[in-house]
Parts: sequence; C-alpha cells; structure tokens
Amino acid sequence: MQVKVANKAGFCYGVKRAIDLALTQAKKDDGPVYTLGPLIHNPQVVQDLAQRGIQEINSLDHVQTGTVIIRSHGVGPDILKKAAEKNLKVLDATCPFVAKAQKYAREMAEEGLPVFILGDPGHPEVQGILGWTNGKGIVVESADEISRVEHPKVGVVAQTTQPLANYQRLVEALQEQGVQVDARNTICHATGERQRAALELAQEVDVVVVVGGKTSANTKKLAKLCEETGTPTYHIESAEELQQEWFRDCRKAGLTAGASTPDAIIEEVKRRMNELDQMTNGDETMNQAMEVKSPRTGELVKGVVVQ
Ligand code: F3S
Repeated sequence: MQVKVANKAGFCYGVKRAIDLALTQAKKDDGPVYTLGPLIHNPQVVQDLAQRGIQEINSLDHVQTGTVIIRSHGVGPDILKKAAEKNLKVLDATCPFVAKAQKYAREMAEEGLPVFILGDPGHPEVQGILGWTNGKGIVVESADEISRVEHPKVGVVAQTTQPLANYQRLVEALQEQGVQVDARNTICHATGERQRAALELAQEVDVVVVVGGKTSANTKKLAKLCEETGTPTYHIESAEELQQEWFRDCRKAGLTAGASTPDAIIEEVKRRMNELDQMTNGDETMNQAMEVKSPRTGELVKGVVVQ
C-alpha cells in the first residue's frame, strides 16, 4: 500500500507562530504562564506545553500574576481589559489573519454598520470577533439565516476557516436585498489550500486518514470534505486509533491533517499505517513475491522451494 500525504497538511502559520511564542515564553524566568483555553486543538501538544509549565485556564478570575497567552483564535476587548486591570502581562498570539478580521469588524461597527460575521457562533474566534463589534455584530452560519435587512449598508467578515462558497452566498444574498455590502473576505488561504489538497487526495485514494483534534473545526471540515467524495474517511487524533481492517485490500491510502497537527504526529501516523499495511496485506504481497517456478517440474509454486 502506498501512503500519500496531502501536499498541504498540518501546522498553519498562525498555529506555528502561537506555539513558538509560547515556547519562548516558557523558557523565560518570568512567573507563571497561562493560556486562556487550549493553545491549539491538539491534546498531545497541550499536554507537552503543560509539562513545560504552561497551564491552561478557562477564565482570568483566579489568576493574580504572570503572563496570559492569547491564542491564535484571538479574544474580544473585554478579556484584554480584564487582564490589564489585573496587571497581568499579555502575550498576544492572535493569528494576524484573525486580527485583521477583528480590525475590519471594529472599523465597520465604528462606522455604525451592522456587521455580519459568518461562522460558527460557538467558536472562540467568532466570539472574539463579535466582541470587537460593540454590539453591532450578527453571527450567521449561512445565507439561509438572514432575514430582511433594514439598514441601507452592512458589513461582512468571515471566520477564517469558512468555505469561500459560503461567504460568497452570504454576500450575494445581502446584495439581492438591494443593500450596500462592505464585504471583507477574511478567509485564510491556509484553510482553503488544505481543503483543496485534501479533496484532490480523497479522489485518488481508496481510504483517507485525517489527523487532528476531535474538537478542531478545520480538521472536522477536512474529514467532512473527504467523506463527501465517497472515499472511506477516518478522523483520528493519534496513531493508536488506526485500525488494521481500514486498510484491507487498500492499494493507496491518503493522509492529511488539520492546521493544529504537528509534523511529528503526521509522521508517526504514516509509519503506523505502513506497519498495519504489512500486517494486513503483507502476507498477500509476500505470497505473490514467493510465487516461483519449480526448477524440477516447471510448475508455479508458492513458498520456499527446497531442491
Ligand atoms: Fe491563522 Fe489561518 Fe492558521 S487564520 S491560525 S493561519 S488557519
């Protein structure tokens, strides 16, 4: 079985930057270091950071001193204000692409526009962007959710991981109402590139393995796209979850990974897939390899020929 890795997979720029910043901070002798929520949606990485003294917290309520790392998803201004009131140091690892979406949302809200934020309402990135709109943000997951817009002009931004088609549909639906739309495409290229690569891969292999946190939105999306091609798709977090029967009679397997999956985990999964292939299909390969002609009878025989 050939294992083909998608040509764009794993860590994106923003996640890598957040981890590098956190690791540099952890090396300093500068008091306790916290992340507000898991730094990335990958349990193994979060565990590794914890071993280096970076603690995950869910609120600033009980933190009195030290450094708070703002993860790549970003936060709203209320959190930054609270950190400042408590005299906490802030290490802002907000991905620059997310920061751009926040900035646009803030500017449009300051202009007095209702700001449509296309995205998952429960996602921290969307919550953060919403926080910058000073009550003027409206979160929608698709164009189907919009009702009659009374304002003559509106703004639109998108969660960075949104599919482009979803964004275009929303902008069109608003324009069809005769509303002037200040549309800012804040979708990140890393996401689109990974999705396109995963889709191409799924179309040329017998099975796809998608590696990444079970709660990672971009990983779930990759798995969904692959599944929709009809190719059997498995979303796992680590190599231990791989199962031998997934690769039975499989000639070519695909491997892709979400933006919060380190290269080391992708490599480990690839190695294990090859191992399982040996265990599952290896005997067959071996039998084929050992089909030889008997020097005595000229017949095709399997196994070792003892002369
Ligand atoms: Fe940033 Fe895009 Fe990654 S928004 S965190 S580079 S997926």
